[in-house]
Amino acid sequence: MSANKESWGSRVGLILAMAGNAVGLGNFLRFPVQAVQNGGGAFIIPYLVCFLVMGIPLLWIEWSMGRFGGRFGNHSTPYIVDTMGKHRLWKYIGVFGIWTNIAVAAYYCYIESWTLSYVVHSVLGTFNGMDQEGVAAFFNTYVSIGESTLGIPLEAIVFYVLCLLLNTWILSKGLAGGVERVAKIGMPLLIVFGMFLAYKGFTITAGEAGAINDSSVGLNFLWTPDYTQLWSPTVWLAAAGQIFFTLSVGMGTIHCYASYVRSKDDIALSAMSAGWMNEFVEVVLGASILIPISIGYLGIDRVTELVQSGGLGLAFKTLPFLFTQWGEVLGAIAGVMWFGLLFFAGITSSLAMGTPWMGFMQDEFNWSRKSAAWSFGLIVLLLGMPTVLFFHYGVFDEYDYWAGTVSLVVFALCESILFAWIFGIDKGWREIISGSDIKVPNIYKFIIKYVTPLLLLFVFIGALITPKA
Ligand code: PHE
Repeated sequence: MSANKESWGSRVGLILAMAGNAVGLGNFLRFPVQAVQNGGGAFIIPYLVCFLVMGIPLLWIEWSMGRFGGRFGNHSTPYIVDTMGKHRLWKYIGVFGIWTNIAVAAYYCYIESWTLSYVVHSVLGTFNGMDQEGVAAFFNTYVSIGESTLGIPLEAIVFYVLCLLLNTWILSKGLAGGVERVAKIGMPLLIVFGMFLAYKGFTITAGEAGAINDSSVGLNFLWTPDYTQLWSPTVWLAAAGQIFFTLSVGMGTIHCYASYVRSKDDIALSAMSAGWMNEFVEVVLGASILIPISIGYLGIDRVTELVQSGGLGLAFKTLPFLFTQWGEVLGAIAGVMWFGLLFFAGITSSLAMGTPWMGFMQDEFNWSRKSAAWSFGLIVLLLGMPTVLFFHYGVFDEYDYWAGTVSLVVFALCESILFAWIFGIDKGWREIISGSDIKVPNIYKFIIKYVTPLLLLFVFIGALITPKA
C-alpha cells in the first residue's frame, strides 16, 4: 500500500495518455524500417495477424491487471503482478519489467533528444543549401560516427541531458498535472502535423521538385502483400517484435497507467480506443511519411541500402534534405512539423517508461514524486551514456535487441501465463468485462487462454534459435 493517491483527470485524458504511451518513435521510425528490412509488403500480413492474436489480448490483460492492482493501492509493476500471483517470484518478474523500462528509456530518450535538436536546426535553417551527403554528414558528426573534432558527441550530450531534464520535470508534476497535460497538447498536434506530412507523402509526383517516383511507388512497396514470406520465421519475429514495441506491451508500463483507473470504470473500450488510435497513427500516418517521401526522391534501392546500413538514421539523414526541395519556408515548416511530431511521439512514451519506476519508489520506499522523478532521470542518464558515447559501435542496437525486443516477449509470456493460468481465466475474463462499455467478443476468452500464451512461447523460442540480424 502506498501514499500514492494520484488519478487521471478525465477519461479523454486517460485515453490520450495511453495512446501517447503507445504512439511513439516506434510508429514513425521503427515500423517503416522494420517493413523495409523485411521486404516491404511481406511484413504486413504477419503484422496484422500479430496485432489481432497477441496485441489486443495483451492490451486487455495489461489494462485489467493494472486496474486490479490499483484497487489494492498498488501502482508499480512488481506490486501489481504480486497481487495476482501466489508466489514471491512474481514480484521479481515485476522488477524485471521496471528494469526493461529503464533500459529502453536509456536508448529511446537518446533518439528523442535528436528530434529536439533537429527541431532547433530546422528553425535555424541549418539544412538550407546542403546536399544529401551534407545532411548525412551532419548526422554522422552529430552522433560522432567516424571523424569528429572532439571525439565526443558534445551537442548530442547537451540535448540528451536537456531531454532528460524535461522528462524529469514533467514526471515530477505528476499524472494529471504533468503526463496527462502533455498528452492533451502533444497528441492532437502530432496528429495534425502527421496528417499534413502524410498528405505531402501521398501527393508526390515524379518530376516535381526533384522527385523521381510518384508516391504510389513507396506505398505499393509497403502495402503489396508478399504471401511467400508467410513461411519466413524471421519476418514473423520482426512483426511480433514491432507489435509489442508499438503497443508498449510487455514492460509493465500499461499496468501502471491503468492502475490509476477507478475500479468501476471501463477498461475494455478504453484499451481498444488507445490501441486502435496507435494502429491508425502507425499504419496510416507512420507508413505514409518516411517511406513514400524517401522512395519518391531516392528510389527503392537507395532507401533499402540506407536502411540496411543505418536503420533509424534514415529519418535524420535524408528527410531534412528532401524537405528543402519544397522551398526554404515550406521546408522549414515541414522540418519543424516532422521533428516536432517525433518529439511529441517520443516524450509521451518516455514519460510512460518513467511511471513504473516512479510507482515503485513511491510504493516501496514512500519516496516523494520529486525524488522518484529525479532518480529516474539520473539512472537513465547513466545507463544511456554508453549508447550516446559508443553509438557507432552498435551499442544502441544491442539495447534495442535485448531490452526493446527480447525482454518484451519474456515479460509478455510470463504475464499471459500468470493471467490465464495462475490467476485463472475465469477470474481474468471477469476483470476484463467488468464495467466494460463494449461487448468483448467471447472468442477472446479462448484466445487469451490458449492462443496468446502458445504464440508467445513460439516467438520466444524463435527468438532464441534465430540468429540475430
Ligand atoms: N510504444 C512506444 C513506441 O512505439 C515505445 C514504448 C515501449 C513506450 C514501451 C513505452 C513502453 O515508440
